[in-house]
Amino acid sequence: MGQKVVFFEQTDSTNVQADRLAKEGAVHGTLVVADMQSAGRGRRGRSWQQEPGTMAAMSLILRPDIAPDKASMLTLVAAHSTAAAIEKMTGLSAFIKWPNDIVVNQKKVVGILTEMCMSQGAMQHIVLGIGINVGTKQFPEELRETATSLYLETGKEIDRGRLIAAVMEQFETDYETFLQTEDLTGLLEDYNRHLINRGREVKILEPGREHTGISRGITETGELLVELADGSVEAVYAGEVSVRGIYGYV
Ligand code: BTN
Repeated sequence: MGQKVVFFEQTDSTNVQADRLAKEGAVHGTLVVADMQSAGRGRRGRSWQQEPGTMAAMSLILRPDIAPDKASMLTLVAAHSTAAAIEKMTGLSAFIKWPNDIVVNQKKVVGILTEMCMSQGAMQHIVLGIGINVGTKQFPEELRETATSLYLETGKEIDRGRLIAAVMEQFETDYETFLQTEDLTGLLEDYNRHLINRGREVKILEPGREHTGISRGITETGELLVELADGSVEAVYAGEVSVRGIYGYV
């Protein structure tokens, strides 16, 4: 992973560039990195803003030989790898807000956007985009309660290049583990150990439906297990989970 790196001082979005390079034949494991993105993409069509030079913005091209319906699990693999790499580099405790945000001290520090390219029913490639707020000194007013950076949490300037290398190193190991079973079996215990909402009341927001329960951890295939008031356990596949209560974003 990241043996081949394509670096942009400035680009629109590393995910867009990685998709373009993949379509031009870039090899599995090619990493696209940018010092600055002018049109960074977030989930659900949102934009992902950054101050110049503050974010570790990377997109990894993958060409796994797996069924397309298993690809979404790679987002969870990447979340695990990124949390573990942050902990290793900074000494902070990094938690995963299922499925794939990384949270430090109750605030979001990493966003992950996985995009899959299909053609005639077959998966061509996957772009795994990871954005880590590294050096941001101040967030805009509207994000201050929910977003943070490694600088704000440690008081130290973290080297973005070394951090990206640490994420790649951890992802390489985690990806091998994933491929052994083509699911999260080998990462389950550690993912659940990092799961911020575990054992807490969560609100499940699905289109047309909202309900609450206690988060009990994820399954081998990445669903969140939620214990409902009547004691039954529901496996939540898609949707937005947020913890009710005093913590705001989590
Ligand atoms: C989210 O909405 O939480 C996901 C944000 C993902 C941002 C990263 S930054 C690197 C890569 N390139 C993009 O355009 N988006 C992802």
